[in-house]
Amino acid sequence: MCGIVGYVGPRYATELIYNGLKRLEYRGYDSAGVAIIDETSGRITRRREVGKLDRLGQLLQEQPTNGHIGIGHTRWATHGAPSARNSHPHASMDGDVVVVHNGIVENYQELRAELQAEGVVFASDTDTEVIVHLIALYLNQGHGLPEATRLTVKHLKGSQAIVAMYAKSPDQLVAVRIGNAGGVTLGVGDGEMFVASDIPAILEHTRQMVFLESHQMAIVKADGYVVRTTDGVPAQLDIHDIPWDAVAAAKGEYDHFMQKEIFEQARTLTDTMRGRVDFENGRVRLPDLELSEDEAQGLERLIIVACGTSAYAGLIGKFLIEHLARLPVEIDYASEFRYRQPILNDRCAVLAITQSGETVDTLAALEEAWDTGARIWSIVNAIGSQAMRLADGYITMQAGPEIGVASTKAFTASIIDLYMLGLYLGELRGVLSPAELRQHVNALMALPDLAGRVLDHDDEYQALAEQLSGYKNFLYLGRGINYPIALEGALKLKEISYIHAEGYPAGEMKHGPIALIDETMPVLTIAIKDHVYDKMLSQIEQARARGAVVIAVATEGDEFIKEKADYVIYVPEVSEMLSPLVTVIPLQLLAYHVATLLNCDVDQPRNLAKSVTVE
Ligand code: F6R
Repeated sequence: MCGIVGYVGPRYATELIYNGLKRLEYRGYDSAGVAIIDETSGRITRRREVGKLDRLGQLLQEQPTNGHIGIGHTRWATHGAPSARNSHPHASMDGDVVVVHNGIVENYQELRAELQAEGVVFASDTDTEVIVHLIALYLNQGHGLPEATRLTVKHLKGSQAIVAMYAKSPDQLVAVRIGNAGGVTLGVGDGEMFVASDIPAILEHTRQMVFLESHQMAIVKADGYVVRTTDGVPAQLDIHDIPWDAVAAAKGEYDHFMQKEIFEQARTLTDTMRGRVDFENGRVRLPDLELSEDEAQGLERLIIVACGTSAYAGLIGKFLIEHLARLPVEIDYASEFRYRQPILNDRCAVLAITQSGETVDTLAALEEAWDTGARIWSIVNAIGSQAMRLADGYITMQAGPEIGVASTKAFTASIIDLYMLGLYLGELRGVLSPAELRQHVNALMALPDLAGRVLDHDDEYQALAEQLSGYKNFLYLGRGINYPIALEGALKLKEISYIHAEGYPAGEMKHGPIALIDETMPVLTIAIKDHVYDKMLSQIEQARARGAVVIAVATEGDEFIKEKADYVIYVPEVSEMLSPLVTVIPLQLLAYHVATLLNCDVDQPRNLAKSVTVE
């Protein structure tokens, strides 16, 4: 969840690291710090501050420090409250070694007691601090920084990403990755090297990236790097050329990243299809899935695992894939799947959907599928992430960096990926005829334009937000393929505006939630012209009869609904299967505007983090 940045090279490190942290602030933002080997004193200087990163920026101006090597960290507290003393980097007692860390040292209490017994005095309440004291002990025994770090990680239980720096070896950083607590990316520059937990932090400096695998460590110097396993065996890793544009990771003309990412969707939908949807021949190609026709025909079940918004995309995937490929689909929260001893075999495929590719529960769910014979797939946005590398086959979202903590464009990109997967499996399994396939492919062509038309009505969503921002509770109702959109609309509202919102399958309203409905609880319904339209109308009647203010997302041209609902949001007509891609956009924008009206921090909502790398 935390963000790490490191630099070694001819440039001054402080500002470069600070700017990298800014690009990672979405990962954690309760405190931050940097440590630099000061060029004049040769000693490590640390600057740490609680609160948002700007406060660290201010501190760095008041108390400047500079040198050509350093590490920085932005924190999402797990052990120890957010405070300057608990902020990273943590230092050894003599101040000569510092570490930044992502993950949890599960046995830290035991290690802390052992270290205290040896006379170590702790300066923080964190689990991380045991790491730096252990490294210092090994350094005092005469080991160099790489070996001291390697010996240290052998003591640690749990998943960790660590970067260590030592004043007496001022030309190197040591980075380690154990398990799935977050990535360690090396950026290869020209006579300089970068380390980061995520690509956007260093993308403005280099596109050449190397991703450490679990149980690997890197010794990073200005002129290059060496990778070894934590058992000391040399390892070779590919250098990936990352296509993301550094400009794409900046806010540009928008007030917030979330707003920018919502508006990007007209384009990202095209990007997601690019290279995979063959409009000319009416087909879909997913070569990275590594699936033959025989294998596709032998599949008996697909199990989708994901968390949060990605899980809601998975619910839509169930509709799409069952319909298009006649393959039974189960969907489970990754955090539940991993603990329920799922029944898997070589006739199953397990598909993880994950924007970050680093969500610890989702990765653990994939691990659960190892050795069962099941095929492992991922739908993933972050290129080179664990979820991509662990899978037998993958489909990238191609949505570009998503910085706003609340997921938007990755959600719609995942739905396109799932639609393409449905079509691809439908063809390979002989379910879809070439004519049907072509028809479905053609339907995709209009989508970016339809999304653009929805976005054009943003001022209406803003006006509606002004009417609704005073309410404290909302009920979102949807049916069929738009039931997950009710869940997603409610999640967007609650996570960025802190207003309580429930998403519900509309038919279930009368089995309980209806008791909540009165004039204080607006009911937002997705009531487009689909095969359950009439049923939605009767649910709207029932909500109105209890005094609720009703908002309906409806199909353009539906005049009748105006008589039933207090407010109508029109979306263009589109096939039922693709409708979630247009119905979700107004709900994203509604949540966005309500949150900004309430002065909430849209891009960095409280208590949340972009990549959830702890359980
Ligand atoms: C909600 C949100 C989260 C993520 C979830 C999974 O807006 O962003 O619910 O969808 O944490 O994250 P990924 O897709 O990175 O695995």
